[in-house]
Amino acid sequence: MPDPIPEAQLQVSRAVFLPEAHAVTRLLKQLEPLQSLEPAIADRAAGLVEDLRAGGGGTGIEAFLHEYGLNNAEGVAVMCLAEALLRIPDSQTADALIEDTFEQAKWEAHLGRSESWFVNASSWGLVISGKVINLPAGKPASLFARLIGRAGEPVVREALRTAMRFIGSRFVMGEDIAEGLSRAKAISRKGYRFSFDMLGEAARTVRQAEDYLSAYLEAVHAVGKHYAQQSPKDNQSLFAAPNISVKLSALHPRYEFVHRERVMAELLPRLEQIAAAAMQYGITISIDAEETRRLDIEMLVFARLLANPDYAGWSGIGFVVQAYQKCAPELIGWLAGQSAACGRIIPIRLVKGAYWDSEIKAAQIAGLEDYPVFTRKSYTDVSYIACAALLLAQSGRFYPQFATHNARTISQIQEIAAHFGYAPDAYEFQRLYGMGEKLHDLILPEYHSRVYAPIGHHEELLAYLIRRMLENGANTSFVHLLMDKDTDIATLIADPVATAQTLKGTPNPAIPLPGALFADRKNSFGLSLNNAAQQAQLQAALHLPPQGEGWG
Ligand code: FAD
Ligand code: 2OP
Repeated sequence: MPDPIPEAQLQVSRAVFLPEAHAVTRLLKQLEPLQSLEPAIADRAAGLVEDLRAGGGGTGIEAFLHEYGLNNAEGVAVMCLAEALLRIPDSQTADALIEDTFEQAKWEAHLGRSESWFVNASSWGLVISGKVINLPAGKPASLFARLIGRAGEPVVREALRTAMRFIGSRFVMGEDIAEGLSRAKAISRKGYRFSFDMLGEAARTVRQAEDYLSAYLEAVHAVGKHYAQQSPKDNQSLFAAPNISVKLSALHPRYEFVHRERVMAELLPRLEQIAAAAMQYGITISIDAEETRRLDIEMLVFARLLANPDYAGWSGIGFVVQAYQKCAPELIGWLAGQSAACGRIIPIRLVKGAYWDSEIKAAQIAGLEDYPVFTRKSYTDVSYIACAALLLAQSGRFYPQFATHNARTISQIQEIAAHFGYAPDAYEFQRLYGMGEKLHDLILPEYHSRVYAPIGHHEELLAYLIRRMLENGANTSFVHLLMDKDTDIATLIADPVATAQTLKGTPNPAIPLPGALFADRKNSFGLSLNNAAQQAQLQAALHLPPQGEGWG
């Protein structure tokens, strides 16, 4: 029978489905003493945005994903192609998908709209492809149309496949770790640190999990040998060392709380191999945050890893907190407890969270009592700042790592960290490869920044790529609005605390609670058996022995 879940963990589990208004109100209260920093934050953020816009805003791919955002049919078509095209093995089905996605698209509407030559060239390509696909059988109208008509669908298919590979390649630092390390050279000359991520997640078979483990181990050895000459002497140099980001869902096909005995017996030893190798080289690891249904199992695995006496004195095991989770403050409290128990500093990467759309959908499908995440962007922004303050207030417990591409969020962190007495080099910022480059280049002279560098082939890239396209294409996202000339600077850097105060923590009316999804009937009610508190609640109600294995 599995061990009982500690009360400290259950407190986090119970906070997962907190009512939104309650979760927001307590964050606003926590941030009240910091509101006096707002004028300095606004000044700093405006300066950064002016510099960014003066320099053209973003890279070619950022401009492309702005033009083909999710608020137009063409952007959705590009995302559907990126998601599916490279996975389709036969030409007939690939052509059917292309035809289907091109039917509604009005590519002409995008011609010449962007200042980026790259975007305009892409638009021309798509217009021409659309013409080929929609060419009426029989007589093409012009010589040009006849020529491209003769080239026909195989050419368009290959061109689109190449284009999708190209989009993907903008977010991947190398197909293997050797290529990644070689590309890292130029970027590290600018002063960046690195976290290498081996693409791959949600293993479906044991074989796949073992392959992902091999890829991680290969990366640790390659990165470790590459940086061997600079072995860290203390925590400050350890935190400057390269890092490997690990997705635990890649290491086991049943990485779920309901299968925790198996996970502890089979996944934990795999993770321990990675950790032991990293420690030997003086580099660090971080456990990426995935879907909320993985949180309880992640906490169990993390606590066991930290408690392993083999790693005594090594502060190289990092955790990621997602601010969009309503339970984030409780999670930070739990992490402080873990740090106290093992007597080591825990590096914490604070992110807003990359799985928002799927969290909302999953809660609706399961008919959960509430969403695990906030439903308004400003609440997530407020939570990010409140969580940052919680991390910064406990300097002996955490090494704070702020992963964001938002200039206002960065400015806020810089001011709050200074308020807590942190020197600019006492913590770090992080960005994803292919994103936020210009923004982080601007802060790099004074602050540390780390690039999260995905390594792998396009077969493993799709889930990651779609999250990047959602992030770049959403019309609420900072990187999207930065490229949008109609969004003025004041709107772009608006204070989320003020917005949340006005909204009083009310949930987004466009996103009814999962139970109230349908106008004419109640949605069926469900529990999350991967949530420790809900599982315990159900077991108590059914008078079952606690912690039974194999639910779900
Ligand atoms: P912003 O545009 O300011 O924020 C966008 C975010 O706001 C969205 O991603 C979402 O979280 C939130 N949001 C958007 N709409 C809503 C809404 N209606 N209601 C509530 N919230 C909303 N993510 C992970 O999940 N796990 C990881 O391990 C992880 N590692 C990362 C490592 C690095 C180095 C970086 C840079 C990012 C990582 N991310 C991870 C991705 C990260 O979550 C996103 O990049 C981040 O959310 C974007 O935030 P921003 O401040 O750059 O942009
Ligand atoms: C993701 O995989 C970066 O971990 C983050 O989307």
